[in-house]
Amino acid sequence: MTEAPIADTREIIGGLLRPVACIAPKYFYDARGSLLFEEITRLPEYYPTRTERAIMLEHGAEIAGKVGAGSTVIEMGAGSCEKARDLCELIRPAHFVAIDISAEFLHQAADGLRAAFPDLDIRVLAADLTADMSMPSDLSPRHRLVFYPGSSIGNFDPPQALSLLSRFRRLLGEDGTLLIGVDLLKDAAVLEAAYDDAAGVTAAFNLNVLNHVNRLIDSDFDPGQWRHRAIFNALDSRVEMHLEATLDIQVSWPGAGRRFLRGERIHTENSYKYRIEDFADTLGHAGFRHTDVWTDAARWFAVILARP
Ligand code: AVI
Repeated sequence: MTEAPIADTREIIGGLLRPVACIAPKYFYDARGSLLFEEITRLPEYYPTRTERAIMLEHGAEIAGKVGAGSTVIEMGAGSCEKARDLCELIRPAHFVAIDISAEFLHQAADGLRAAFPDLDIRVLAADLTADMSMPSDLSPRHRLVFYPGSSIGNFDPPQALSLLSRFRRLLGEDGTLLIGVDLLKDAAVLEAAYDDAAGVTAAFNLNVLNHVNRLIDSDFDPGQWRHRAIFNALDSRVEMHLEATLDIQVSWPGAGRRFLRGERIHTENSYKYRIEDFADTLGHAGFRHTDVWTDAARWFAVILARP
């Protein structure tokens, strides 16, 4: 039995049948994948989460001063809502809308947030950020803050990133603010270690996408026949994750299938690393004119507040 809507099934099979097969990174996040991702964020090699948090804590008062209290925070890709706790402490919003593709995980996370902030009006929206999403109709369109932390914007290629930022811009109206975390370009060794940790958690996260795809399209991938690869592609300024066949493999799903030769790869994720100037340009093209940028001392990560 397949679990996926027809559009997802078509998208997945279309990707698997491309000359260089691919699976979109949104399929990482089934319940197990979401938990593995949380584990990744605590790994010693995975610097983005803790670096972003340190920047937010260090400059929290200034950020809060610029945003003001009583806003409607819309967190895109909320996941565990862990980052929302720090933010809500800091800026004291009136409403909080958590949006994520993994509904089950999101509901649990929102319950945790409710316990910590009993007076905050918390809503949950299970949605794919790349599809159209509408806000609950009773929420005011004024004083919105779109919160997009963790450098998730890096998982979109530049044209998609621009269209997502433009969508955020429209959602914000004229008096809203975007607060976004962006991972910056750095040494290849640091980047590759962050995506290929010694404990093998990122490998498990990458391989788990095959279990999820099996459930979605009724395929028979055996994750034990594949190995995790993480490569920094300097030309395109991105870390790429792939799954590599360790032997010749025939994979089947209802009505079709594909043969993969040993060494052949499935491309599962890109994680773009930006220069601040380039990201500021993209924000400008998306309709944001005013930006404040905070970074850590090593300039590994940036937290950016952008306004129309
Ligand atoms: C969610 N996203 C920002 C992560 C990243 O760093 O690109 C996903 C991830 N993939 C492997 N490790 C973490």
